[in-house]
Amino acid sequence: MSGIFTSSIGKKLLMSLAGIFLIVFLLVHMGINLLVIIFDDPIVYNRAAHFMSTNILIKIFEIVLFGGILLHVIYALILQAQNWIARPKRYNKINFANTSFFSKFMIHTALIILVFLVIHMADFYFKAKFGHGAEILVDGVMYHDFASEIVDKFKMLSFVIFYIAAFIFLGFHLIHGFQSAFKTLGLDHKKYNPAIQLAAIIYTVAVVAGYSIIPLMIYFL
Ligand code: HEM
Repeated sequence: MSGIFTSSIGKKLLMSLAGIFLIVFLLVHMGINLLVIIFDDPIVYNRAAHFMSTNILIKIFEIVLFGGILLHVIYALILQAQNWIARPKRYNKINFANTSFFSKFMIHTALIILVFLVIHMADFYFKAKFGHGAEILVDGVMYHDFASEIVDKFKMLSFVIFYIAAFIFLGFHLIHGFQSAFKTLGLDHKKYNPAIQLAAIIYTVAVVAGYSIIPLMIYFL
């Protein structure tokens, strides 16, 4: 059982499971963020964010989320290091580099996403956690005013450009990561590969477009 944490295939398996968890998180997070542009009233988004930060099940999910990100990053680094060490011997234990263009840049796009995440969390999540975020009182309940913070940020062109650039790199990471994760979990078969590839493209386009539309609508409308 401990082999799952130490063997190469075990590490790749855990990394894929964590990756699939993050793939689902991205859809949930996007759905909630779209509320900012769908509803004119900021309280709709603030209520949803409030629910997400107070509900006990979601709090557990959040711990799993941070664990998932950490696990995904740590195992990716270990596997990448093993790959680099193995390379001079022309012996590639874990075949990260299949033929796709995006697969060659997974570690680079991952680093860009990590930098984005640190800045993003500092802007919204940690600011609110440490009591520096905007707040609003509605019907006797105090809410973090994330909706106004998002609108304020995306009224600045520099933020719009930074976020959309990050979403594009996220897309490069996801288009390969999505397929790689499902293949690692056993779906690597001639019969299923075209369907997985199509699903990866649809998912990636939906995520990049869905996230990008938020800063674009706020900036231009
Ligand atoms: C337009 C795009 C985005 C907006 C407006 C946005 C907004 C926010 C806000 C307001 C928070 C703090 C409130 C909360 O916890 O729900 C947050 C948290 C977070 N965001 Fe984003 N986000 C965006 C894109 C992303 C992307 C692309 C990622 C991942 C690559 C991401 C990852 C996270 C994480 C990990 C957290 C903390 C965990 C959580 O509590 O949900 N966000 N985001």
